[in-house]
Amino acid sequence: MARIGMGLVGAGFVGPHHVDAVRRLGFVDIVAVAGSSDASGQQKALALGARRGYGSYRDLIDDPDVQVVHNATPNHLHAEVTLAALASGKHVISDKPLACTAAEARGLVEAAGRAGVVTAVTFNYRGNPLVQHARQTIAEGHIGTPRFVHGHYLQDWLIHETDYSWRLDPMQGGASSALGDIGSHWCDLAQHLTGLRITEVLGELTTSLPTRKRPRGARDAFSAAGDGEVEEVAITVEDLASVLVRFENGAKGSFSVGQVCAGHKNDLVIEVCGTASSVGWRQEHQNELWFGHRDRANEILQKDPSLIDAEARPYAHLPGGHQEAWADAFSNLMRDIYGAIAAGQPYRPLPPTVATFEDGYRANAIVEAILDSAGQGGVWTEVAR
Ligand SMILES: NC(=O)c1ccc[n+]([C@@H]2O[C@H](COP(=O)([O-])OP(=O)(O)OC[C@H]3O[C@@H](n4cnc5c(N)ncnc54)[C@H](O)[C@@H]3O)[C@@H](O)[C@H]2O)c1
Repeated sequence: MARIGMGLVGAGFVGPHHVDAVRRLGFVDIVAVAGSSDASGQQKALALGARRGYGSYRDLIDDPDVQVVHNATPNHLHAEVTLAALASGKHVISDKPLACTAAEARGLVEAAGRAGVVTAVTFNYRGNPLVQHARQTIAEGHIGTPRFVHGHYLQDWLIHETDYSWRLDPMQGGASSALGDIGSHWCDLAQHLTGLRITEVLGELTTSLPTRKRPRGARDAFSAAGDGEVEEVAITVEDLASVLVRFENGAKGSFSVGQVCAGHKNDLVIEVCGTASSVGWRQEHQNELWFGHRDRANEILQKDPSLIDAEARPYAHLPGGHQEAWADAFSNLMRDIYGAIAAGQPYRPLPPTVATFEDGYRANAIVEAILDSAGQGGVWTEVAR
């Protein structure tokens, strides 16, 4: 198999997981890393075992050995890095959200279409074997017709006023914070599992900490506050959100998002209640899938390749009882995306784990509709198509 060269732009929290995931494939070379300065690009390249480190993403894109650009920069840089890579004919794997606004995301969908390369957005929870099993179970009608989809995505890493991230600055994170950051995952998963679009939303947003203490130096995501100098900043974006949703088939739903909820580390929960049964998945216990029934005992399916749907089986790599986790699901995604790159053609067929730029646009459009709804005091708002 011909080897494929990748380059990573942005090696903070999630960037190194892109590298780890593609390294597992065996045919991908970690060619380069670009950081926010020469020194950081070189230091991160060394740490990640990449051949070259750059201080500018443009140099990385110009590197002839880089065929695939992974965009793991803060949100405000997503569009410009992705557009530059597409203009150079490089394949692009963008971390979520695809862009800061739906209009920007639409531009990226169009640019990707013109470039004719392989593109994807890392809505990585799709890569979990039990998510794929649940999706298949729903598609085959085993729970009946989806009627109610509910859940939450809660974290606690922004609970203290000394907790700070670029995600709280609209110039870097976008007009939405918690919703764009993790609500977008929940919405993508809800649509992915049910195969149904979210068409209307009603949202209420809260900024629980209107003032925070921002460190004067840089800090990677999820790292605890140090004892360095801080400055007080006003916060305008949401750290909590409650949302009602309607799906295209008339199904209803609700979800909450928050990053100030003590004890919830990466607590993504989703349950689809159908006309016959329910199915529920919890990221923090991701090797178990719950089925709820009315007229017989509820069930818990433990992840086991021999017990799950044949379509989901390729996403489970260890026997039953051997736990698989976040990084394994992330790598499943990369396997599917690089499969198309290695084949030298767009996805044929589109693997279920792959969120396209169109899916990325949809997530941006949902978040924007929730912001509009909340801005009007909480009214039902249509999601732009
Ligand atoms: N898929 C997921 O589950 C997941 C998880 C975390 C983050 N993300 C997404 O990944 C992106 C990065 O998030 P993070 O948590 O890693 O943030 P982070 O702040 O930890 O890392 C961002 C990195 O980008 C670097 N950077 C800034 N400007 C740059 C530039 N011009 N060129 C190159 N590098 C630059 C920063 O120095 C930092 O190292 C965000 O869009 C976020 O939404 C996705």
